[in-house]
Amino acid sequence: MQTPTNLLSEAYSVLDANDKATYTQPSAELYPHQWLWDSCFIAIGLRHKDQDRAMSEILGLFRGQWQNGMIPNIIFNEENHYKTDRDLWRSWVSPYAPRGVSTTGITQPPMLAEAIVKVGEKLTLSDRRHWYRQVFEPLVKYHQWIYTDRDPHKEGLALLIHPWEVGMDNTPPWMSELQEHQLSWWIRAIKLTRSDTILTMLRRDTHNIPSSQRFATIEALALFDIQRRLRRKAYDIERILDHSMFAIEDVAFNAILIRNNDQLIKIAKVIQEVLPSDLMESMDKTRQAFEQLWDPLSAQYYSRDFITHRLLKVPSVASLLGLYSGSIGEERARSLVHQLSDKHSYALNSPIPTVPKNSSWFNPVNYWQGPAWVNVNWLIIDGLLRYGYKKEASKLRDSTLSMITSQGCFEYFNPDDGSGIGAPNFSWTAALAIDLYLNPIIV
Ligand code: GLC
Repeated sequence: MQTPTNLLSEAYSVLDANDKATYTQPSAELYPHQWLWDSCFIAIGLRHKDQDRAMSEILGLFRGQWQNGMIPNIIFNEENHYKTDRDLWRSWVSPYAPRGVSTTGITQPPMLAEAIVKVGEKLTLSDRRHWYRQVFEPLVKYHQWIYTDRDPHKEGLALLIHPWEVGMDNTPPWMSELQEHQLSWWIRAIKLTRSDTILTMLRRDTHNIPSSQRFATIEALALFDIQRRLRRKAYDIERILDHSMFAIEDVAFNAILIRNNDQLIKIAKVIQEVLPSDLMESMDKTRQAFEQLWDPLSAQYYSRDFITHRLLKVPSVASLLGLYSGSIGEERARSLVHQLSDKHSYALNSPIPTVPKNSSWFNPVNYWQGPAWVNVNWLIIDGLLRYGYKKEASKLRDSTLSMITSQGCFEYFNPDDGSGIGAPNFSWTAALAIDLYLNPIIV
């Protein structure tokens, strides 16, 4: 058990140990590359000590920006050792991929504008303006890409083509879709013959971590299979959608998009720039369209299938991110807060579980199928505050900090007993611990 001051120094030393000069790796060994939303959360923590490093963390992400505006979820470490990772994606098969940098061909939750504003808060007004001007153009291009590429029917909701894009890799709504509709014949064969046990032994992500804490090998194979299919289509959305592959309007991604659209508007105002009117229109539409994801019967938001518009009614913490969007009405917000305080679903000893306890998918140690993640807690604390739920926000802040204080900066935590699991010395846990600690909530 550490004291809070130790917590700060430990968190900063995690970020220093994971410093790769142009970016911060999420964790040594397991995650050696630069990830999109990780870097955003990392910058939010770094801003308290080293604004220059926080800014270069974000600028590092623009290095990987594609000519069509897309910001990839991973920019690969260029060391020889990681050639296999780069070759798996072969981003160079797309004419839009940047030259001289290898990336994936998919994105991740668009947390950039939020991180840019948070870093800006720590700068003087003139430095802030300079900072905003530096990032404005590529940031607008990214938001425009989200709408042109991922909202082809102009419905207002962005579609995702791989579970890695939502950053909650094996979240139950996506996994149940995958298993019901998307398993290739060869994966079904492996499943039937149970040969997945041999493959489990070859996985890098389960080397130092028990395989019960990561997703099943069949799920991992299915994720790589989709990735291979995307690569075959050179990550071209028209070709991908032509083949009616997985396309989901994800509730977490769209909630985050709404909030980040608002932050983009804020940035534009500070530097007196005008956003393109079609972008403004699309952003407005997202706020309205988000309400189509509400299911009145269960009083929850769900992701939905892009083609059929069927809601994927498998509960997960993504529903609560409506609070972070800031765009939902008071009544729906109240209903989400109510679920947050329900002992049978989200109010466990060390909240917030990524899947409610009363779901058949709940597993307290399996990755995004139960454990509490600090970034999700941070997003929900932010949302609670915006809706005036200070007491709830403060309680969640305290329980989040106490998990980290007693266990260390783990990747995720068992929501039943608060034990730290997954990778140790995980960067966004450290960064957001710093941010939560330095922002006490006065109730
Ligand atoms: C895992 C997480 C994802 C994160 C990445 C790097 O894939 O699911 O959200 O960005 O690791 O930390």
